[in-house]
Amino acid sequence: METNVALDTLEGLRDIINANLEALIEEQCVIHGEVAEVSGRILLAGGKRLRPILVHLAYELAGGENLDEIMPLSLASEFIHTATLVHDDINDEALTRRGEKTMHALVGQPKAIIGGDWLFVQGFGLGGRYRKEVVDVMASFCSRLASAEFSQLDHVLDLSTSPEDYLEIVKGKTAGPFAAGCQGAALVANASEPECQALFDFGLELGIAFQLVDDLLDIRGDERMGKPRGADIYEGKMTLPLIHALTLLHGEQRVRLAEIIRDFDDSLFDELISLLENAESLSYSEILINNHLERALQHISVFEECEAKQLLKHVVEMVQNRHS
Ligand code: IPE
Ligand code: MG
Repeated sequence: METNVALDTLEGLRDIINANLEALIEEQCVIHGEVAEVSGRILLAGGKRLRPILVHLAYELAGGENLDEIMPLSLASEFIHTATLVHDDINDEALTRRGEKTMHALVGQPKAIIGGDWLFVQGFGLGGRYRKEVVDVMASFCSRLASAEFSQLDHVLDLSTSPEDYLEIVKGKTAGPFAAGCQGAALVANASEPECQALFDFGLELGIAFQLVDDLLDIRGDERMGKPRGADIYEGKMTLPLIHALTLLHGEQRVRLAEIIRDFDDSLFDELISLLENAESLSYSEILINNHLERALQHISVFEECEAKQLLKHVVEMVQNRHS
């Protein structure tokens, strides 16, 4: 069946990316010792490799044909992503990620901060091999990511957070990196301006949907996530289902929801979910996810049919159906 062939190819791509990451870490361990070993362990612990997969497919869709030409940008996206996860896990005091111990749980916070920096620098070393236009795209998404993380911290337990505030944060922390990866790849492939823009827009819509799914998984996900559910609520993160329900519910139910958010613990999970269901906030998120995924597909409809486009459509389906 066609679907299986395409999925095999996505897995094949993931294997190539993993082999390149492993080779790079092995080389770096010889030079840098423990910091490379520990950071490499986190990098190689697993993960969907979604960002590097997108970089490869966007490059191919934009007409690129040389795997070696795009590989550094692809690996850079995973290094930078993992760097942000390491620092994020310190701030969130998270003990597991990708089904394994987080870096600070392994080696303590001071080394984990430095390990995260090491991963960032490796990412920029790889991405810095390209022309200025591409490096600028990388620098700008990383800066915007940092600014979105600041904003997210400012909105912790802020029950007046609006859907617009939420969307800005999501664009900065998740969708921006997806979009920049796709746009950077198109630039490396020397695509036209409208093609670069279409791939940027594709990445942005896909990234928004990805984060919306992530936030839903935090509420009703299972052990396949590789991290405990409810983490966002414990951290006071205002995700869309909460923002939506706070707007829709009134009277006692609104008061109770606010109490639960402010002072959450596991015993309140069922009550929280039933309040979210009363407000139809989970199905609202689902509808929004499908809208963003539809828009993502529209942005790549300008490209002619080819294998890379087929695979990007599979990535869209993966985001819709993911459990981790
Ligand atoms: C998690 O990203 C962090 C977010 C921006 C939601 P992923 O869910 O892609 O993490 P890995 O790389 O697969 O572990
Ligand atoms: Mg998360």
